[in-house]
Amino acid sequence: MANGRVVHTADRAIGSRQLAALLPSEVLARPGYRGLADAVRTLVLDGRIALHVRLPAERELAQALGASRATVTGAYDLLRESGYVRSRRGSGTWTELPEGHGPVGAHLLPGAGGYSADGDPGIDLAIAAMGAPEDSLTEALAWAAPRLPALARHPGYHPFGLPDLRAAVADRFTGRGLPTRPEQILVTSGAQQAFSLVTALLCRPGDRVVTENPTYANALDALRHARLRTGSIAVSDAGWDMEIAESTLRQTVPRMAYVIPDFHNPTGALMPPEQRLRLLAATRSTGTWLVVDETIADIALDVPAPAPLASLGPRGGADHVITIGSLSKTHWGGLRVGWIRATAKMITELTAVRVSADMTGSVLDQVVALPLMEAMDRTLPARLARLRAQREALVRSLQRHTPEWSWHLPPGGLSLWVDLGEPVGSALSERAGAAGVHIGRGARFGVDPGTFEHRLRIPYTLPADRLDEGVRRLAGALHDGVPLAPAVDRPYWVA
Ligand SMILES: Cc1ncc(COP(=O)(O)O)c(C=O)c1O
Repeated sequence: MANGRVVHTADRAIGSRQLAALLPSEVLARPGYRGLADAVRTLVLDGRIALHVRLPAERELAQALGASRATVTGAYDLLRESGYVRSRRGSGTWTELPEGHGPVGAHLLPGAGGYSADGDPGIDLAIAAMGAPEDSLTEALAWAAPRLPALARHPGYHPFGLPDLRAAVADRFTGRGLPTRPEQILVTSGAQQAFSLVTALLCRPGDRVVTENPTYANALDALRHARLRTGSIAVSDAGWDMEIAESTLRQTVPRMAYVIPDFHNPTGALMPPEQRLRLLAATRSTGTWLVVDETIADIALDVPAPAPLASLGPRGGADHVITIGSLSKTHWGGLRVGWIRATAKMITELTAVRVSADMTGSVLDQVVALPLMEAMDRTLPARLARLRAQREALVRSLQRHTPEWSWHLPPGGLSLWVDLGEPVGSALSERAGAAGVHIGRGARFGVDPGTFEHRLRIPYTLPADRLDEGVRRLAGALHDGVPLAPAVDRPYWVA
């Protein structure tokens, strides 16, 4: 510790060729020290180079860029002076964030409302989920009611899940191309519990886990609470950087890797089949458990729903892959039904962990989930059509009210990962809160605190008129005359 601050050194490295591949073409064409420093700083703030990653030696990077050694030395000096890298003799130069840098606002949980405007319930643009499809929930309850007396004769403890629901979940995996037996399924209280159980079974405090960066914020919180060390695989609007992912896996040999390959939360990116194969092979060779979160896989708006990643392995699925999912996005988060698919042996071990926390899932939720699972292919198209229309409406509202923002239209999922062009996400979040809009600032999704300040995740899960009102209020907060305080000062060398 120095001045109460933990001092890190590098815990992995990026090669000169890998770094060059991340630099914008203008820097590659005419490498100057200011441009190079600014590009590296942007990569750090965007999570594309994680913190505590050793940068290439100056001579090596100069060679890879076809630049003079003085250019790289000058860039590293600027980065060091402004706090974006540190160096130590013998340890090289590694990425950091300047002291005191971090999110401005309080840590906001989704829905943590408290809106000021008189009686205004506010607009929640932080939750990427919808209410239940009304008709199907009513139908499911009607189907379940006459079956309850028979179920109620049993004491009601089904730690593995209701047998019929385990079978229905297994059948759905089989139908999607991944042959699965009911013994390979544990029914959980949502995908979040599924992830916590897997983490509790496989990891001990201090173990290293790799996640995407950015990633689902509550998964990051679960890893922090379990006191695990997180490394990261960058996901940008262009998708996964699989070469860096492979080298991160090789260098850190993590215990577990957690990925959301289908309409990734928050970017909406869809991992191509070739990258899925590379990820399977890389995790197999490092002996890393690969946890695949399929919670959003069925929200396929412009492409067919992807087959399970595990189905690309040997028939019956690669044993090192654990797949989790839930009914929260296809149906309703209020119905606490999710699952884990793994080997039958691991399911037994996971169930022992589960019993220590909550004994069993709710039988009422599970019996309602049964007909919903079985009718999924019939009910899903209407939900997807609604999401497509709302996505279009959100795009129109953004174009109208905040034309300076940009985004990449995702082929599925529930939200846009909006680029604000300036690191003002936390400041905007505070001002928007006062205007009755709750937003998901980008920093919530970053592995390292203080990154993704120039991003917002805006879900298209509300009706079009609410989305438009939300974006109109955001624009009001943005354009209210007083510039927003950036979470990161622009360094002196950037004009
Ligand atoms: C990627 C991802 N995983 C897990 C969850 C948690 O879902 P559940 O409600 O099933 O616990 C969500 C919900 O937003 C999610 O987006």
